[in-house]
Amino acid sequence: MVGVSLIIFGAAGDLAKRKLIPALYALFKQKKLSSCVMVGCAITNTTAQEILNEAKSFVGEVDDALWHVFSSLFYYQAGIHFTREADIEIFHQYVCEIEQLHGLGNKRLIYCAFSSDYFCELTHLMGKTKLAQRSCEVPLGWHRIVYEKPFGKDLASAREINRCIAYYFDEEQIYRIDHYLTKELAGNIALLRFTNCIFEPLWDNRYIDNVQIIVDESYTVSGRGLYYDKYGALRDMVQNHIMELIALIAMEPPTKLEAEQIRSERAYALQFIHYVDGILGQYQGYRDEPGVDPDSTTETWASLAVALENPRWSGVPFYVRTGKAMQKKETVIHIVFKSVECLLVHGCPVPANYLTIRIDPDAGFTLYLNAKKPGSMQDIIPVAMDFCHSCLYAQATPRPYEILLEEVLRGTQTVVVRFDEIEHAWRIIDEIRAKNLPVYQYAQGSCGPKEFQEFSQRHGIGWRS
Ligand code: BG6
Repeated sequence: MVGVSLIIFGAAGDLAKRKLIPALYALFKQKKLSSCVMVGCAITNTTAQEILNEAKSFVGEVDDALWHVFSSLFYYQAGIHFTREADIEIFHQYVCEIEQLHGLGNKRLIYCAFSSDYFCELTHLMGKTKLAQRSCEVPLGWHRIVYEKPFGKDLASAREINRCIAYYFDEEQIYRIDHYLTKELAGNIALLRFTNCIFEPLWDNRYIDNVQIIVDESYTVSGRGLYYDKYGALRDMVQNHIMELIALIAMEPPTKLEAEQIRSERAYALQFIHYVDGILGQYQGYRDEPGVDPDSTTETWASLAVALENPRWSGVPFYVRTGKAMQKKETVIHIVFKSVECLLVHGCPVPANYLTIRIDPDAGFTLYLNAKKPGSMQDIIPVAMDFCHSCLYAQATPRPYEILLEEVLRGTQTVVVRFDEIEHAWRIIDEIRAKNLPVYQYAQGSCGPKEFQEFSQRHGIGWRS
């Protein structure tokens, strides 16, 4: 990939330092970004060097000589307010000067790595100042704009942002992204289902009892209080990452395993989701985090029961759980199959089979079956057939943001969320938020509030651990 300007709005922020710059360095190291410049801006009074120093600790193994070259291609302009036309003009001028210096100019990847509160205004200013142009105005090149999730704060604001974008840019230039779609095992769900004939015939309400999606995080909101307090777990995690995981599990077989067909099926599945029950929590000490309102009622934990009213899934509950400051970091999906009618003389009922798809921190999947206990004719023991993706491909697996940036550079839309998916997901979140569920406190390092037990009992959920 040659000759690209990577323009990062929000370059001094957490996302840029933790994810984007390390991913760009990885691509640079693999020679996938041989001729490029990175030009960042934000209001923050800092320097390119300081940003790089902080980002370096998230890179992993660094080749110092290569890092030096990489650093020389990274520029930063402080004091840029995303909603001030004069600032965007100054920044555009700065970008043009750097592009001229490096002999670049007709390919721009513009990354909006900040809260969606400013998406509309910045889009308007990028369009007006020509920092980003409509496809037909960029001969022999391209301008692509990446919008981080969450796309809006609710259905109404998401629609408003989409209107602003559509006024200036073509759909093929727009990348509304969700990095969970680039995680190896999330990407594997469709392949696992549709390329193995043992799964798809069983993938419905005749054989599946329930689906559990757990996205636990051990870390707190550390350093992101200002952003997080305005969003909370429902908008930060459920509206996007978890809804996309549900869509991948629930979608009908696409006519082809290709981006457009998969996106259509994801969107189609999401329209059937509706809320059944839920409980929210906030970890103790959250209100003392920098940037958080001392009286905040923002949820940092949520557990939901949702259902999909369609012929395939009617009667199968989908249980969802996500939270910050949990015991451990774990993203996992359990497909719990129905129990068989037990024909044994004793030892009934036998455990249900289940398929566990591990997404993070280690990736892989395991199918749990029953087998005869050695030495006994009737006793059953559960056995596991395991595929450990992380063990086999640890070195060869790129990080989610590497895949994401590569896809955008290539111009493919696999990891991009279509606006109809976003609309369906917001409809559900708006419905849940309108219920004003109480927010219970929970201790850091626990599994959530104590009221969670009642919720689980009410639904008879045997959470898989
Ligand atoms: C982000 C959320 O989208 O995903 C964060 O804004 C969350 O709050 C993060 O911590 C989790 O991503 P990952 O890849 O670490 O599971």
